[in-house]
Order: sequence, then C-alpha cells, then structure tokens
Amino acid sequence: MRFQDKVVIVTGAGSGIGEATALQFGQEGARVVCMDVRGAEETSEKINKSGGKAVAHIADVSKWPDWERVVEHTINSWGRVDALVAVAGVVSRHIDTVIDQNEAEWDRVININLKGVWFGMKAVLPHMIKNGGGKIVNISSLAAIVGLPGLAAYTSSKGGVSALTRQAAMEYAKDDVQINAIEPGIIETPILEGITPEMRRANVEATPVGRLGDPNEIAYTALFLCSDQADFITGQSFVVDGGWSAH
Ligand SMILES: NC(=O)c1ccc[n+]([C@@H]2O[C@H](COP(=O)([O-])OP(=O)(O)OC[C@H]3O[C@@H](n4cnc5c(N)ncnc54)[C@H](O)[C@@H]3O)[C@@H](O)[C@H]2O)c1
Repeated sequence: MRFQDKVVIVTGAGSGIGEATALQFGQEGARVVCMDVRGAEETSEKINKSGGKAVAHIADVSKWPDWERVVEHTINSWGRVDALVAVAGVVSRHIDTVIDQNEAEWDRVININLKGVWFGMKAVLPHMIKNGGGKIVNISSLAAIVGLPGLAAYTSSKGGVSALTRQAAMEYAKDDVQINAIEPGIIETPILEGITPEMRRANVEATPVGRLGDPNEIAYTALFLCSDQADFITGQSFVVDGGWSAH
C-alpha cells in the first residue's frame, strides 16, 4: 500500500499500459483519476469493485479545456494531485514515412503524444508546487532513441516527450517535483492490432528476452518512479525493452 490515499491521475487508463498502471495504483491504495477518450469508466469500475477508489473522465489529452475540467474536479473532490502518469498515445493511421506521411496525421500524432504530455504537466504542476511536491512519469518509447522505419511522426513525438521530461525536471527540481520518462520496447497491447504476423515475429526476434513485454511490466516501473523510493531520481528516461536497445 505504497500509495494509500495519494491522488494519482493516469491518462490512457482505458487500455493497455494505462489500464495496467491505474489498476496497480488502485491495488496500492491510491485514489485514481482514470482519464481517456474511451474505456475510462470500465477501468474505474474495476478499481472500485475491488475495494479501491477511482473516478473516470472521458477527456482528450490534446484539449486544454479537458485538462482544466479534470484537474479542477480532482482538486474539488480530493484536494490535491500527488502524481501524474501520462500514458495516452497513438500511432499514425496512415503510412508514416518522412515522404508519405500526411500533414493532418502528423498533427494528430504530435498533438496527442507530445502536446498532450505538455498540457498534462502544465495542468498539474501548479497544484504540486503549492502542495510541496509531486511525481510525474511520462510514457515515451524506444522510438525516442532508435529510428523505426514507418513511424516518423511517432518517433518525433516520443523524442519530444523524453526531451520535455528532462526540461521540466530541471525547471521544477527545486519544487520537489520529480519528473521522469519510461521508454518501453514492444509491449503486448491493443496498439499493436494493426501489425502483420511477420512484423510481430520480427519484433519478438529483435527483443533479446524472446518475447514482447506485458503492460504490467511498464506499470511496475511507473509505480516505482511515483513512490518515495524514487525521491532522488529526476530528469531520466528509463528504457524497459527486454534488451532491444542493448545490442
Ligand atoms: N505497446 C507498445 O509496444 C508501446 C511501446 C512504446 C511506447 N508505448 C506507449 O505507451 C502508451 C500506451 O500505449 P498502449 O500500448 O497501452 O496502447 P493502447 O492503444 O492500448 O492505449 C492507449 C490509450 O490511449 C488512449 N488515447 C488515445 N488518444 C487519446 C487522447 N487524445 N486523449 C486521451 N486518451 C487517449 C486510447 O483510447 C487508449 O486507451 C502510448 O503512449 C504508446 O505510445 C507503447
């Protein structure tokens, strides 16, 4: 029960890594604000049914008024925000090479993956500072540190997330807010639905441990970084990729 009565906002909580993170926080006693464009109610219901405390918001991380609404509601109901885990993210719906990506999809991916992370920090930081501190974990990607052909907008957005995480950590270190990123390798979630069996096999082969990751394996790292045990860690990006980037 590392997070007894701590107030935690998790974006992308309706599926995959965000859902696993919200559920783990619920099991460890946190009051969990589940934020997603879909599926947030289902995750919040699972937490409440198993004895935890959660609330759901259908909200778009790339829209500032949605952040204002969620954070205002959280402060009014629970008085503070102790941690934010920004998980929501998308890949391009179209061919995403530098030549062929279209502008509308570029803007959509950057707005959700990168602007959404900036908005999240902008929305919660004033409350954390007022409260004497907090933790933020932004979910970046292995794509921030290696080129992945066909993911031009995505890799750009994730490079931005890791850079903005370092930047924000430097700006608010003195306020006792620790801000870190996680760069996951290939994790078994619905985001992989579009990939062919050949691409899937290639991803397993590129992962030295010989399997894809489980969403819980990213959630464990996120919870550690939000815990008191991580008070001396800030401005870092943690690669959790089954060894992909080690060779
Ligand atoms: N699965 C992987 O292999 C992998 C690898 C590296 C990084 N990531 C990152 O992890 C994060 C979670 O991805 P996942 O694999 O769990 O995928 P997922 O598709 O299961 O979950 C993503 C969630 O984000 C939500 N979302 C999308 N747009 C949103 C918006 N505008 N506002 C609020 N919520 C929105 C979706 O509804 C969904 O519930 C993403 O940022 C992704 O880029 C995933």
